Amino acid sequence: MRTVLVTGANGQLGSRLMENPGQNSLRIVGFDRDELDITSPESIAEALKKHQPDAVINAAAYTAVDRAEEESELAHAINAEGPRLLAEACGTHGVDLIHISTDYVFDGTQERPYVPSDVPNPMGVYADSKRAGELAIEATTGARWWVIRVAWLCDTRGQNFMQTMLRLGQSGKALRVVNDQHGVPTFARPFAEALLKLAAQPERVPSGIWHYGPQGPTTWHGFAQAIFEEHGMDVELEPCTTADYPTPAKRPAYSYLDGKPFADALQLPQLHWKEVLRHEIEHG
Ligand SMILES: NC(=O)c1ccc[n+]([C@@H]2O[C@H](COP(=O)([O-])OP(=O)(O)OC[C@H]3O[C@@H](n4cnc5c(N)ncnc54)[C@H](OP(=O)(O)O)[C@@H]3O)[C@@H](O)[C@H]2O)c1
Repeated sequence: MRTVLVTGANGQLGSRLMENPGQNSLRIVGFDRDELDITSPESIAEALKKHQPDAVINAAAYTAVDRAEEESELAHAINAEGPRLLAEACGTHGVDLIHISTDYVFDGTQERPYVPSDVPNPMGVYADSKRAGELAIEATTGARWWVIRVAWLCDTRGQNFMQTMLRLGQSGKALRVVNDQHGVPTFARPFAEALLKLAAQPERVPSGIWHYGPQGPTTWHGFAQAIFEEHGMDVELEPCTTADYPTPAKRPAYSYLDGKPFADALQLPQLHWKEVLRHEIEHG
C-alpha cells in the first residue's frame, strides 16, 4: 500500500484529499500548518522520516491573492521557498512530489485554452510567488514531480465563490457579477480524486507541468446563473465588468486551462463543468 503525505490538510483542497475520494488503495496522512510548516526544513524532514511516504501532495499555499500585494515576503516564503524545500527533501528521499499551481501564472491575454507549454506572465505578487514555486520544483532534481495547475477552485462547502453566491442570493436583492473574466469552475472533490489517482498510479503521467479542469469555459456571471438554477433559486443577476470592482491584484481576463491531456493520461473522463456542478450539489 502506498503512503501519501498531504500538506495543508485543513484547506479547501487538503480537506478533500483527506477524505480519499475515489477510494484509492492509499494510506493518507495529513498535516495542517501547525503540524508541518512547509517553510521549515526541520518540520519537513521530521514528517518524512516518521511517515516514510511514497508521495507528497502539497496542498499548502498562501492563497490571499489581494493581501499578497502587501505581504510579498510571506507569499514567497510559502509559495516559492516552501515548494523548493519540499522538492529538495523529496529528491533526497526519492519521494514523488505532486504540487498544485494556478491559472494566475498566465496574464490571460490568450484567446484559446492554455496548455502547459504556453508562456507564463504572472501579474501580481501571488501569481509571481506561485510561478516561482513551479520553477523551484522544476530546478530541483532527484525524484519524480508533477505541478498541476488548476483554476477557479470551489466546493459545496467552505468559503468560496459558490458559497458567497448562495449567501448573497438569499437577500432577495439583484446581484452584480463579473461577466468579462473567462475560466472554468473546478470542484475540489473531483480534483482531489484525480490527484490521488496520480499518487496511486504515477507511472501513468510523465513528470512535468499539467493542467487540470473540466470542459468549459464560462464567466463568473455564467457560473452564478448555473448555481442559482441548480438550487432552484430565482435571483436577479446583472452582468458587470472587472473594472466595476477594482482589486489590488489583477486577475487574468481569460484563464481556461486545457485539462484534457491530464484527464486522458489518468483515464478519467473530462466532464463539462455544469455536469460536475450538478453532481457535486447532489453528492459532494
Ligand atoms: N482557491 C482557488 O481558487 C485556487 C485557484 C487556483 C489554484 N489554487 C491553488 O490550489 C491549492 C489549494 O488551494 P486551496 O483553495 O485549498 O487553499 P486554502 O483553502 O487556502 O488552503 C491552503 C492551506 O495551506 C495552509 N498553509 C498556509 N501556509 C502554510 C505553511 N507554511 N505550511 C503548511 N501549511 C500552510 C493553510 O493553513 P492556514 O489556513 O492555517 O493558513 C491552509 O490550510 C493552492 O496551491 C492554491 O494556490 C487555488
